[in-house]
Amino acid sequence: MISHHDTVRAVEWRNGRLYLLDQRLLPREQRYLCLESATAVAEAIRAMVVRGAPAIGIAAAYGVVLAAHCARDSSPRDWRRAMEDDFAALAAARPTAVNLCWALKRMRRIVDDVADADPVALLLQEAQRIHEEDICANRRMGELGAALIEHPCAVLTHCNTGSLATGGYGTALGVIRRAFSDGRIRNVYADETRPWLQGARLTAWELVQDDIPVTLLVDGAAAWLMAQGAVEWVIVGADRIAANGDVANKIGTYSTAVSAHHHGVKVMVVAPLSTIDLSAPDGEEIPIEQRPQEEVLALEGHSVAAAGAAAWNPSFDITPAGLIDAIVTEKGVVRHPTRAGIAALFE
Ligand code: MRU
Repeated sequence: MISHHDTVRAVEWRNGRLYLLDQRLLPREQRYLCLESATAVAEAIRAMVVRGAPAIGIAAAYGVVLAAHCARDSSPRDWRRAMEDDFAALAAARPTAVNLCWALKRMRRIVDDVADADPVALLLQEAQRIHEEDICANRRMGELGAALIEHPCAVLTHCNTGSLATGGYGTALGVIRRAFSDGRIRNVYADETRPWLQGARLTAWELVQDDIPVTLLVDGAAAWLMAQGAVEWVIVGADRIAANGDVANKIGTYSTAVSAHHHGVKVMVVAPLSTIDLSAPDGEEIPIEQRPQEEVLALEGHSVAAAGAAAWNPSFDITPAGLIDAIVTEKGVVRHPTRAGIAALFE
């Protein structure tokens, strides 16, 4: 269900094909790419046509449907084996967001269990279930997270965690959507989020589409914003949460949390259970994606750095659990996250 303050959808399945809103072109242009193979889906994930942990997982699930379609037609007797390269390509598309492997595991279970039934139909059902469950989880997290905001205030967010980054509604941006509707948020500050500018290009676009007031700032201004007493909460998403509550999220989340801690601003991380990786005991075990230097050295293809300079471009960082006030999931809120608090979500 799409409603007021919630009008954007980035991932759609129509007539046997996957349509992805090309997020590299936003906000200038709204163009959907039509994908017909798992290889094309893996490439779209790698190239950031679709991004954001839950959206990557959902796109990969539909990628498996396309893989099965192709394998059933090309190798009717050996379709399972024919899908293996596609599974591997999808799994390798991006390393940090654990939702990708989580979704592929769910799809593989269907592949393993299907007997004589049509695998494509069953896999499509599962992909659509993953997609719908994500939106439901986001709405529930929206309620739970908004309830933590006790009185009308301004909040700061980082990267894009909205409908563009999920099946719809969003994680951190879902909380913001809900809290704005409830009158608990007056204004949203959004870090521009160098180098991909997910805040400036995507979060600002999404909030403007949905009539929620947004004020952009460069990432380096966040600490000074907090020093003015301008925000009460930092609200962010996650790409992977370790068993002890350490959080991997867009580069810059850690420095924002350090600044928040210094200024007495509270930090809320909003993520579905599919983002929690109990096999990673702590943040040190989470793989951090390194992206090309050109993303830092150039802007939209135009060089901005001195020729000869090198760049360090980690796409994510780890925020230690000790800097986080609350992790909001669809199964409940973990305050001051600990290993036991995270484990209890799965009981
Ligand atoms: O590199 P991106 O744009 O995929 O990074 C996205 C983020 O870091 C988001 O904060 C995270 O995936 C949570 S999205 C609900």
